[in-house]
Amino acid sequence: MNTTELQKTKQRYNIVGNSDGLNRALDVALQVAPTDLSVLIIGESGVGKEIIPRVIHDNSPRRREKYFAINCGSIPEGTIDSELFGHEKGSFTGAIGESEGYFGIANKGTIFLDEVGELPIATQARLLRVLETGEYIRVGGQEIRKTDVRIVAATNVNMRKAISEGKFREDLFYRLNTIPIQMPPLRDRGEDILLLFRLFAMQMAEKYHLPKITLTEEARQILLQYKWPGNVRQLKNITEQMSILSEKREIDADTLLHFIPRDQDSTQLAPIQSGGTHSYESEREILYKILYELRGNVSDLRRDLTNVRKQLEESRQLNGASGFQPAPQTVSNLPATANKQPITPTRTIEPVEDAEAEEISEPETLNLNDIGKQLVEKALERNNGNRKKAALELGISDRTLYRRIRQYGLDKD
Ligand SMILES: Nc1ncnc2c1ncn2[C@@H]1O[C@H](COP(=O)(O)OP(=O)(O)O)[C@@H](O)[C@H]1O
Ligand SMILES: [Mg+2]
Repeated sequence: MNTTELQKTKQRYNIVGNSDGLNRALDVALQVAPTDLSVLIIGESGVGKEIIPRVIHDNSPRRREKYFAINCGSIPEGTIDSELFGHEKGSFTGAIGESEGYFGIANKGTIFLDEVGELPIATQARLLRVLETGEYIRVGGQEIRKTDVRIVAATNVNMRKAISEGKFREDLFYRLNTIPIQMPPLRDRGEDILLLFRLFAMQMAEKYHLPKITLTEEARQILLQYKWPGNVRQLKNITEQMSILSEKREIDADTLLHFIPRDQDSTQLAPIQSGGTHSYESEREILYKILYELRGNVSDLRRDLTNVRKQLEESRQLNGASGFQPAPQTVSNLPATANKQPITPTRTIEPVEDAEAEEISEPETLNLNDIGKQLVEKALERNNGNRKKAALELGISDRTLYRRIRQYGLDKD
């Protein structure tokens, strides 16, 4: 974990907290940012999910392109397809002009799909298509359009449950969930609760021109043990209410309990968990995926460089001893790695495998094959050898998985 980079990010975005869970989430966000991998942010309501896609976009090669945050739960079912994918003139009552839709406008940029679990099933099909192929069709249209958009999604619902109830497509879930980022609930974040209270108390003092509120030791203990069902958002609201309404500026236990909701569910005081549900295995796997993708990019760059060299060499030979130097615009004929293709998750975890790329030797410290093999092995293990499910989870086609299995000798066990 790069602590300096982490601290800088927190300062830049005004993110307060130093718990392991928060640091881990930010760390994965920073690591995955330079890639095109899809990211799914998972966490209860109010934990602070919305800052993560911004961090990812701002730290990615797409940072100068468009960024849209779309709340899938707040767009009516009847218009969501047209908002996301555009529509043709006259395609439905009220469609006076044509519209491009977010996926068209955000070409080369990033779209954050908040509350993605709320997407209607029909929209899920369109989304899956654009994720897999970079292609989409406007509502009421015929023409297949191309776009290159990086997707970061967030959810506070249990997606496995939504899948088992038929509300969310399993294949889409796996596509979105290439890199999961868990945002921990506030009750698992220990001292962060007090740091956040201090931040909000300061903000409210400034906002309302009132003296800042503080806590007695007893009140502090209550804050630390409370369950916080509404997480950071709830802490912010309660701090705001106390800042305005409490005459005492040092909040004691009695005053605090007066502001904390008393209904059965939310007054339960929960013991603070130290480690949460984090698993080392899954973290390592996430890092592997990122590494794998980044190595793919480096290989692409190397291949482009080899092509450049070849072209230069050829032009030098063609021009012989005449001393001709290739004009600078030759560069525009070269493959453009940065915005080469629309986002196709299949590409993101495939090793570069054409002959040219294989000529280039990989440094020994980083063996792409080993990483790929481990990813495939783990996915097969998790799915009890079911290849179809493992392919889905890896975000690759069945055929590609079969090839990988053969390539890594996993069929010989
Ligand atoms: N670490 C943090 N530091 C400062 N403010 C935070 C932090 N996490 C969340 N917040 C604030 O809490 C509120 C809820 O965050 P939000 O991202 O909207 O939650 P979610 O999308 O997970 O429901 C916002 O006002 C946000 O600014
Ligand atoms: Mg939100």
